[in-house]
Amino acid sequence: MDKEHNHFEEGEFLTDLGQPKKIAEIRGILRKILGEGTCQKLALALMNDRCLPEALPAKTIEEAVPQLAERYPGTPLNLLNVRGLKSGITGLKDNLLPGKKTICRILYAMKANSQAAILQTMREAGIGGFDCASSNEADTALMQGAPAEDIYYNFPKHSPQELTSVLQKGVRYVTVDTAEALAGAIKAARDLPDAENLRIAVRIAVKNPDAAMPMEEKFGIPSDENGRIREMLKTIRNSGGRPGICVHVGSQTQDPEIYRKAIETVAALAREAGGVNHINLGGGLPVDYFGVIPHPPEDFFREINEAVETHISDDVLTGDNQKILFEFGRFLIAPHVHWISPIRSMEIKDGLPYLNYAGGIHNTLNGLKVHGWPMPPADVIAPDGAKRQGKKITCVLSGESCNPADMLQAEIPSDTAVGDYLKLANAGAYTDSYGSHFNGFTLPLYALYNT
Ligand SMILES: Cc1ncc(COP(=O)(O)O)c(C=O)c1O
Repeated sequence: MDKEHNHFEEGEFLTDLGQPKKIAEIRGILRKILGEGTCQKLALALMNDRCLPEALPAKTIEEAVPQLAERYPGTPLNLLNVRGLKSGITGLKDNLLPGKKTICRILYAMKANSQAAILQTMREAGIGGFDCASSNEADTALMQGAPAEDIYYNFPKHSPQELTSVLQKGVRYVTVDTAEALAGAIKAARDLPDAENLRIAVRIAVKNPDAAMPMEEKFGIPSDENGRIREMLKTIRNSGGRPGICVHVGSQTQDPEIYRKAIETVAALAREAGGVNHINLGGGLPVDYFGVIPHPPEDFFREINEAVETHISDDVLTGDNQKILFEFGRFLIAPHVHWISPIRSMEIKDGLPYLNYAGGIHNTLNGLKVHGWPMPPADVIAPDGAKRQGKKITCVLSGESCNPADMLQAEIPSDTAVGDYLKLANAGAYTDSYGSHFNGFTLPLYALYNT
């Protein structure tokens, strides 16, 4: 290394990276040149950009697997179906609120998965913007070229520091559900050069026992406390801001009717408050993880479209620049990522096959333990791309970590062999974003196909 110019010869990093002195030296130099804040942003950018440099010349997973098995043997990977994701977004845009296209914005909830390739693909497909829950998520969207006006900050119990940081980036939509968050937003608005552009939504809670992850206990002001909601909306208006109402019916919700109830409730509250500037109807659309969903997406679209047509009238949305927002996470990304993981060894214990595989409940499959879900049905693919067809037998999937709890029961074909891949569908949402680096394992890389 040329110390004076802080210049590294190509390859020097790689050969010497394992030496403690070298890594400390590199870190020191980067901190000196870039500063601590930029170093953290860099780390964030790298974490969110784990995409292989070239898309695979493959249209299907079956075509992709042999290519990956050859080039990245023994490695778990996420396969992003680029065309599938684009058409998913187009489909949602076509189906939701077709009569209100000018004011409807379908946002992507970045918490589901904020990989750069995903955000980029979404932008190319015309996503309406990004819902973020932290200043770092806002940065991640900005780093992908999203303009600040397409970023919406909807964590309703934010700290003043996070709020200030988000506002400094130019974001102008925020959500609150506590008196403190509201006071903080109004105070922060006073320092903005364009305070009149700040939109503050009050998050309300609607009970939904049918959601796999109900939200009402943690977030939102109960919708029957309309006095409190009315007061907060009034405070926003009196401060010169533009009030809105935000609701999330719960993630992986099963009953389309709940959207109608939420929309009716929002409309009644908004009308009572003399109208609002925007309405955010959240996320919540379900994904078919287990081969059974009580209602197809069309039932949800119909319910939402009819309820909006019926209830969101001219006295509900008022003033200029009105918007109806959605912020879907799971439904938008889950179906377009498959996770494949190589089976590294097999052993029989008490007559039961134990399969040791790459990844596990501290990594991609973290959400299963968080939500207490069983392992969804997974296919097994041979390295040549052929699907194993044997009769299903029960096995234990033993993950790559030191935690003895890192085991899941599953059904696999009886002809499964070491070197095959577990293939999990619908693996795009709340998988990596819930994952950790326990035991020093990194999260899987992304391979793009069907581009
Ligand atoms: C405020 C907010 N918006 C959107 C989402 C995305 O929800 P879903 O993934 O169910 O569509 C969540 C999920 O936690 C959320 O908290």
